[in-house]
Amino acid sequence: MIAHRLLHRLLQHPEGQSRADLGSVVGMSTDALEGLLVALQAEGVQLQMDGDRVRLVDARGAWGPHTLAWRTARPVHHHQSCPSTNRIARELARVTPHGAPLPVVVADHQSAGRGRRGRVWSASPGQNLLFSVVLRPALTPADMPRAILAWAAAMADVLDVSLKWPNDLVVSRGDGYRKLGGILAELETASSDEVPAIPTSVVLGVGINVSQTAFEDLPLATSLALLGRTVIDRAELLGALVQAIDAVDVQADDLLDLWRRRACMLGRTVRVGDLVGVAEGIRDDGALMVSGRPVLAGDVELISR
Ligand code: BTN
Repeated sequence: MIAHRLLHRLLQHPEGQSRADLGSVVGMSTDALEGLLVALQAEGVQLQMDGDRVRLVDARGAWGPHTLAWRTARPVHHHQSCPSTNRIARELARVTPHGAPLPVVVADHQSAGRGRRGRVWSASPGQNLLFSVVLRPALTPADMPRAILAWAAAMADVLDVSLKWPNDLVVSRGDGYRKLGGILAELETASSDEVPAIPTSVVLGVGINVSQTAFEDLPLATSLALLGRTVIDRAELLGALVQAIDAVDVQADDLLDLWRRRACMLGRTVRVGDLVGVAEGIRDDGALMVSGRPVLAGDVELISR
């Protein structure tokens, strides 16, 4: 979060700042500040050091823990490689005290990335967004599914894509859809003997295909690159997504309106498990209504175009 304050300050002062001013703003000694400036440069942040003055030249394309903390306005745990960001985020959720800033875990590569319903999530290293956000909404577990839909809708809005129930990020195609990203939401409750009690968290694990263009054995996958949308700055996109999630008011009466506006497949004939019928909409608890019957979990397959 110190990097957040520092970069924020440099952005507010394009003419540059003295090291003494910067040190006092972020509450760091001269040596520690020097170390942070070097770390930022190593992440790709271009700084101009002119005598005692420091000026931000360009932060586009920078990538690393400090840059990501600045972009997301959250503490970031960045891993070049890890089994699964969700697994790490769940461990962090168990130990992050009540009231402390909630972390985001970001990886360049996952060796055991997980998808919904026990599936594997694989992504080429360094080309995509793989992250998990720890959230603690003031909701009962029964109200969590609607919040998860709303967070998914907030991300679909940032990406300007559609949603396939419950929370696949997709683009519609004449012959159906292509999947740009997926969300694996998991609840994490700390053991009850923890003092002070740690509230239930939701870990929202998000995988978005950014520059990957080949997807072996995944004919329905797409990426921002394949959609012709060049992303110069993955960190900026990650920041926009996390900040959109954090801006959702989970208590709002119209919480699901954005999801409904971004939904694809509504009004069409679908199959979910053994049930075939018309996808009519979602109920306020997040259930998908298929020909009058609520569906609480499953994969939706389009039958009629
Ligand atoms: C889906 O099946 O559509 C959900 C995919 C979720 C993948 C993301 S990648 C980051 C996070 N860590 C994981 O192991 N899974 C999620």
